[in-house]
Amino acid sequence: MHHVPKVKGKSHSNNTIAMTEDKQSQFTVVSPEYWQKRWEERKIGWHKTNVDSLWEMGHVIVGVEVARAALEEFFEENSIKYTVSDLPDGAGSLFTSEDNRIHLYCCDLFSFKSDFGGPMNGVWDRGALVAINKEDIPRYVEILSSLLAPDFCYLVETFEFDETKHSGPPFFVSDKDLNDLYGGKFTLTKLDRQDAFEEQHKAWGIDSFFEKLHLITPKK
Ligand SMILES: C[S@@+](CC[C@H](N)C(=O)[O-])C[C@H]1O[C@@H](n2cnc3c(N)ncnc32)[C@H](O)[C@@H]1O
Repeated sequence: MHHVPKVKGKSHSNNTIAMTEDKQSQFTVVSPEYWQKRWEERKIGWHKTNVDSLWEMGHVIVGVEVARAALEEFFEENSIKYTVSDLPDGAGSLFTSEDNRIHLYCCDLFSFKSDFGGPMNGVWDRGALVAINKEDIPRYVEILSSLLAPDFCYLVETFEFDETKHSGPPFFVSDKDLNDLYGGKFTLTKLDRQDAFEEQHKAWGIDSFFEKLHLITPKK
């Protein structure tokens, strides 16, 4: 049976969409307001509380998140003292840890500027690329690419499932998509593919769900 999920919210992009109207309407359209509402309603099935280990290892962390609640919760859950300041031009706020090693920008990623933070030696893309409307992905990749240091490691998590059954998010990003997006400029290596099917996925109408991890590095 052909499944036609609801279209919610408004796309980020007014750019020409590289898909037909039909294809586009298959997917949930996400926006900053959509995500802020998910945080308000606690519909955050992806959320894990112990993701601060890179900071514990001594790294400086830069993050971007549009939902203020997510950032407040992060600092509170981890008992890290922080201050909040305004970003220029009303772009949002910057949450800085007391030790000045965590900088979390509360703003739309599409307004993030390279002088806010960067260059980055490491990127951990969990639930980010897969949370972007398909037509906004090239712009997302352009922004991320502009923030990378000459030598970097970029880990990206993607999912494999029947996208005709689940309208997203997360959105399905195939290995071919990854290759088209990153393969021209960078070296792409698949590190892992694991069965990650859980009870919650049954409600999405799917019967298989794989989690994949790719490493992106500079071309040598
Ligand atoms: C699937 S969740 C993953 C969250 C987190 N990376 C993790 O692994 O737990 C996607 C997150 O991206 C945020 N988000 C979505 N679109 C965004 C945008 N345009 N700018 C900044 N944050 C955004 C949402 O608020 C949400 O918390």
